[in-house]
Amino acid sequence: MKQSAGVPRPKCLRSAGVNLNYWYAVALSTELGQKPLAIQLWHQDIVLFRNRHGQVQALANRCPHRFVKLSSGYVQGDDIVCIYHGWRFNGAGHCTDIPYLNAQQKLPTCRLRSYPVQERQGFIWLFPGDPTQAQNHQPVDLPEWEHLNYVVSVAPMNFQAHFSFLIENLMDMYHGHLHRNFQPWGNAVLHKKSTGSDWVEAEYHALCYFRIDRPWSAIQLFIPQLRRGFPTSLIVRYEYPHWHSWLGKDFRLYCLIAPVSATQTRAYLIHTASLGAFRDLHRLPIWFRRWVKNRCFNAAKDFLQGLIREDVFMMEQEQQAYLQNPERRGLEVNPVIGSVQKLIEQQAQIYSTL
Ligand code: FES
Ligand SMILES: [Fe+2]
Repeated sequence: MKQSAGVPRPKCLRSAGVNLNYWYAVALSTELGQKPLAIQLWHQDIVLFRNRHGQVQALANRCPHRFVKLSSGYVQGDDIVCIYHGWRFNGAGHCTDIPYLNAQQKLPTCRLRSYPVQERQGFIWLFPGDPTQAQNHQPVDLPEWEHLNYVVSVAPMNFQAHFSFLIENLMDMYHGHLHRNFQPWGNAVLHKKSTGSDWVEAEYHALCYFRIDRPWSAIQLFIPQLRRGFPTSLIVRYEYPHWHSWLGKDFRLYCLIAPVSATQTRAYLIHTASLGAFRDLHRLPIWFRRWVKNRCFNAAKDFLQGLIREDVFMMEQEQQAYLQNPERRGLEVNPVIGSVQKLIEQQAQIYSTL
């Protein structure tokens, strides 16, 4: 494939905004219990809480009385109660009670911003843009989360850099060099790139060092002398605003991205491994398969965290280098990166002109 050298980066890529008219994964379901949870999504402070039925509610995280954070308060019934003077708010953002109001006083008419929110396949998804658009989009489908044939691991990321550095990292499989001690893949060669109005996909030919149907192959992760690569296809897809990939038939990964600001990004990296290679799996009792799935949940978490540590170390350096000299342009030889940058710019533009 022809490669282009020195492709200039769009000028404001590293401060590009976000198209908020998509669903964003803001927390794992397990992260939200009885207590309110504060999250930040692209400069918006939001509080999540569960009503008496366990349904997730999402409100602007500012009490309209003195602007302290509602997330410092607590939940009572279907309402969240501000810790300072005890004002209460329901999931629609209406003030439902001020405990010291006298008989002549009325409740102030105020309405906190409430956000469309849904809980699905292990995550809490929030729609931070125009709420009337929420129905037109769907969260990323994660069928492996519940399917008994898959073992799932998830690791949160939180780092100090613009989200574009993360997308570029995830789409440029030549950075396997960075992870050579973990050997998630190797020898990537770009084979094909395709683009659509809101996605970029790249197929690399690569080596995979672990196969689920050959469990002994895991040993080479610890004894490099035994290392042997299996040729495989590595497909990475940035489908705005999230990312997923297929490494051969066995592994599928997702990265659910939730930008916090122009210099901070949160994300969840999800690793799924198919047990489909074990042909007699379906003969086993369901309860046993579920037990195996639950027992193996997060089996690859340490591995993911190792990769994340290495990636974050690089991306935060990139961010610092950008802040020190925003005009400087890096050289680029992977054509996928130009397409990714263009898509980020386009989506920021689409949202800013709405
Ligand atoms: S600041 Fe929230 S009730 Fe007063
Ligand atoms: Fe990486």
